[in-house]
Amino acid sequence: MKKKKTPHSASKKKTKKPVRKAAMRAGSRFDDTAEIIRKLGKDVHRFSGKTVLLSGGAGFLGRHITALVKRLNAEVLSEPCTLISVDNFITGDAKAHRAGAAGDPHILHVWADVTHPLPLRQDIDFIIHAAGVASPVYYMKHPIETIESAVHGTRNLLELARKNPKLESFLFFSSSEIYGDPDPKAVPTPETYHGYVSSVGPRACYDESKRLGETLVTIYHDRHQVPAKIVRPFNVFGPGMGHNDRRVIPMFTYQALNKREIPVHGDGHQTRTFCYISDAITGFLQVLLRGTSGHAYNIGNAENEIAMRELAELFRKVVPGARHSLIDYPDTYPAGEPQRRCPDLAKAEKDLGYSATVDLHEGLKRFVEWAKAEESYRDAVR
Ligand SMILES: NC(=O)c1ccc[n+]([C@@H]2O[C@H](COP(=O)([O-])OP(=O)(O)OC[C@H]3O[C@@H](n4cnc5c(N)ncnc54)[C@H](O)[C@@H]3O)[C@@H](O)[C@H]2O)c1
Repeated sequence: MKKKKTPHSASKKKTKKPVRKAAMRAGSRFDDTAEIIRKLGKDVHRFSGKTVLLSGGAGFLGRHITALVKRLNAEVLSEPCTLISVDNFITGDAKAHRAGAAGDPHILHVWADVTHPLPLRQDIDFIIHAAGVASPVYYMKHPIETIESAVHGTRNLLELARKNPKLESFLFFSSSEIYGDPDPKAVPTPETYHGYVSSVGPRACYDESKRLGETLVTIYHDRHQVPAKIVRPFNVFGPGMGHNDRRVIPMFTYQALNKREIPVHGDGHQTRTFCYISDAITGFLQVLLRGTSGHAYNIGNAENEIAMRELAELFRKVVPGARHSLIDYPDTYPAGEPQRRCPDLAKAEKDLGYSATVDLHEGLKRFVEWAKAEESYRDAVR
């Protein structure tokens, strides 16, 4: 294997800065990246001088991870972290991907499809596999690609991990959807719950392929000692989400900001928990850096469980005049929606020191403030 050579390894060594000071200097109350750095504490120095491969780098979570690395390189790390961020832009935003890397020569944004082996020569220290087709609207449209990124994509990256004997950690982004529509007795849902999932339903391409991705991770860990972990995120939200993929909070925000009725599907009693981005990214990286290989961890915010109807009502507090109505599920929405979704976070709290601190109202305020300044959240015909 070739000796590791970062593209800009000639750059000067910086003095290691204390994390807290850098984050405080950087941050206001709404500085999510500073908040993540502060919460991760000294763990962030594990990225110093290392190479990280990130798949799905143009996606919502991938762009936040990129922003974090950029900030760490600029303000915290003694040696820069090289981030190789790959995406095939099936749903990701190529322009945002490029823009996220701008100004940091250690962040490389590359077009690549993880369903094919990646021709990478350098040693990799961390692999974060966040590529996937995450929104119901898109996985209904691209069911085969959804399966391929979770199965072939995961296999290819695990192979790459196997060939990198110095790899410190591998993180596979699974989903809370692997639990399907859980038995009410299993809500809040612990990692030990095996799920209640249809293999032929309209959500199966997503749920079942994530389940198989987890199986692959487990096999590569058990047979090839790949230091792989699984994270099961429960609905994350935050700045950077497009309203077009119809995830709940951006969609409600778009409707409310444009003075349209917020459509609540069905009777609005179905619940979700929403985890604000700064808590979520902190948790994901805690799984990467502190998790036990071969294990799965729920990451979310159990305190923020709310029925869709109540969520629509909460919008009135952040967007004056917001109103909603109950509507039938549209044809484009996959049937079999879980009625209740709430994580049991005891394992992440105990083993990783994870704790979610941004409540839903505060998170919504931050999200709406960001969306108000976004051109794409403005209705063209208003
Ligand atoms: N955001 C959440 O609330 C949430 C919840 C549960 C699970 N997840 C999982 O976390 C991961 C990241 O989520 P996200 O919200 O950033 O999703 P996203 O859809 O915003 O981003 C995923 C990115 O992966 C890219 N991609 C898809 N297939 C690819 C392939 N074959 N090769 C290269 N790139 C590919 C897409 O173009 C997109 O940019 C996904 O795997 C998703 O399933 C997210």
